[in-house]
Amino acid sequence: MPDAGRAASNPHIDAYIARGLKGRILSGVQPTGNLHLGNYLGAIRNFVRLQADYDCLFCVVDQHAITQWQDPKELASQTREIAAAFLASGLDAKKNIIFNQSMVPAHAQLAWVFNCVARVGWMNRMTQFKEKAGKDRENASLGLYAYPALMAADILIYKATHVPVGEDQKQHLELTRDIAIKFNNDFGASGFFPVTEPLIFGAATRVMSLRDGTKKMSKSDPSDYSRINLTDDSDAIAQKIRKAKTDPQPMPETEADAAKRPEADNLLGIYAALADRDRADVLREFAGQQFSTFKNALTELAVARIGPVGAEMQRLVKDPGYVDSVLRDGAERANALAKPILDEVYRIVGFLKP
Ligand code: TYM
Repeated sequence: MPDAGRAASNPHIDAYIARGLKGRILSGVQPTGNLHLGNYLGAIRNFVRLQADYDCLFCVVDQHAITQWQDPKELASQTREIAAAFLASGLDAKKNIIFNQSMVPAHAQLAWVFNCVARVGWMNRMTQFKEKAGKDRENASLGLYAYPALMAADILIYKATHVPVGEDQKQHLELTRDIAIKFNNDFGASGFFPVTEPLIFGAATRVMSLRDGTKKMSKSDPSDYSRINLTDDSDAIAQKIRKAKTDPQPMPETEADAAKRPEADNLLGIYAALADRDRADVLREFAGQQFSTFKNALTELAVARIGPVGAEMQRLVKDPGYVDSVLRDGAERANALAKPILDEVYRIVGFLKP
């Protein structure tokens, strides 16, 4: 396992674990290309830290990916790439269930029931739909609109209790809770679905673009300089950090000062997350220094943490047979968990048995 995947202690996560939360974890990542530092720090690295203490399922959500057009030739390789990123980051394929969504039909089957539980008014409030559909909303796919109901199904088909994600998924998880509560009420099935808790940890829950500190780092940003991809080599990482936008002042003196300077705050948050230190602690070291000094330190840290993950990913994608065997095994175990829960949902709803 590469060093970057090591489950280093982290005060935010340790605090959750210390609360003795019991339950089942599920999270998902879309195979839509360019897995980046935001996905890693906001989500995948936290999965690695939770695996020792929880039963976990990690899903490559290929059915979510096609809510916006994907080249079919690319989709399969992108799906393997996300699975490779999970493994390269240090997730154990035996201990956890790693699989892709389309191999477990119960997700889509439960999603249909949830389409009939969720209200149009709830969907209309989803900010991610508004962002992704853009101005041409009439032309967005129906799947993109219903996306959060499928996400609720991903989680609730396993009665997952905790969902580690970045901050941008918070609204979808609130909707998941609303769907669970409404289903339980509508069908007189009190407590059937759990009211899921989001797990949003630490210093980098919302990593911003390196070109614009007010925009989220995203797979779909046309500028590759806006993000650090997990597969970037050390030269690319160094170049992107060197070119990252900053303001003309030296490093902030305090967290309050940083909060008013989006680009500085973003780089500070990335450093703190990669180093497993608090922002305040990082500022004690770099306050008032030139950005060039800080950027050199950040480059060194990013290369040390991301480099081994990217290298292991590259090695794994060259072995698609192995990655496919992990996904197949995961899907078999996921199907076994999902089947009795779907059977129970069908009984509750009143569908006749085949
Ligand atoms: P996706 O594929 O966009 O992102 C995967 C994970 O990465 C987090 N993330 C970020 N975290 C911090 N800073 C960023 N700039 C950043 N960008 C992305 C996301 O919050 C996410 O945790 N709808 C989900 C996929 C999904 C899912 C699920 C997640 C489908 N079903 C069930 C949890 C449970 C999505 O599009 O993530």
